Amino acid sequence: EVWNPSGKHRVVSTKSMPGTRWIRLLTDQDCRVEICTEKKTILSVDDILALIGDRCDGVIGQLTEDWGEVLFSALRRAGGTAFSNMAVGYNNVDVTAANKYGVAVGNTPGVLTETTAELAASLSLAAARRIVEADQFMRAGLYDGWLPHLFVGNLLKGQTVGVIGAGRIGSAYARMMIEGFKMNLIYYDLYQATRLEKFVTAYGQFLKANGEQPVTWKRAATMEDVLREADVISLHPVLDKTTYHLINTQRLSIMKKEAILINASRGPVIDEAALVEHLKANPMFRVGLDVFEDEPFMKPGLAEQKNAVVVPHIASASKWTREGMATLAALNVLGKIKGYPIWSNPNS
Ligand code: DGY
Repeated sequence: EVWNPSGKHRVVSTKSMPGTRWIRLLTDQDCRVEICTEKKTILSVDDILALIGDRCDGVIGQLTEDWGEVLFSALRRAGGTAFSNMAVGYNNVDVTAANKYGVAVGNTPGVLTETTAELAASLSLAAARRIVEADQFMRAGLYDGWLPHLFVGNLLKGQTVGVIGAGRIGSAYARMMIEGFKMNLIYYDLYQATRLEKFVTAYGQFLKANGEQPVTWKRAATMEDVLREADVISLHPVLDKTTYHLINTQRLSIMKKEAILINASRGPVIDEAALVEHLKANPMFRVGLDVFEDEPFMKPGLAEQKNAVVVPHIASASKWTREGMATLAALNVLGKIKGYPIWSNPNS
């Protein structure tokens, strides 16, 4: 699909993206926009090489693509200097290789903070209240009347929410769980989440002033403290060498037997095979997963576990956010091509 065929700068998008604002932004600034219409979901390096072709000024790519040495050198040879991931995460991008070939790299933070946090909160509730199991039970025609034991789950109020990685998304999620469900907070991060701490303190005072049990917060000295103490734990680190398999057999073993583990960051943060074993051995332990170690696949055995809620990497999938991500990605590429300061890059 081609927009503004006579445009001076050739910009390729490896996927169709929501909305048209991002296309207009580029075509209004003399760009020819080419959108790949290939039906297969995940493009290979060869597919993308063919898209880049002999002349290409910038590319908007996706987190499912492997942006390394081969693609960045090809983009540079084609005259390109700009690449943006349509994602905040960029573990699929070799930034060192991009730097080597003088290609600027952009990502799309900010616009997906609340949407992603809302999905993590949704998974927390779905796991705590066994929503998916109960839905399947209804649809199977198994409901034959109210029972005291039917789908009994966990009350969140007064329990402790644990956040590992209290950056933009982790902090937004924590606020939702604290304000929405009056949960106490324990978090682990290399940096102090000052604004989050201030929020919990102020909210605790508000509750106290209204005669309610105040919420509390604690910055944990170690990640293990969060795993041991929290009832619901949500993972929000970036994926790199230090966070690969952050949650492994040993760390699962120190979590409460009835804990809930949420992951809407990146799949390889959890050793998924170890998780499957843990879910099998601990039926009261529940998990809500948006991401998987070998997407689009789940590790054998995971799909059969009733104590797992699984969704296909949709944390940022609200209309507003996806259009915002597309727009930011287009701005990143346009900014570099036109010499404006790049809108957002992985170091921002
Ligand atoms: C991201 O942006 O990194 C998400 O995983 C997809 O929105």
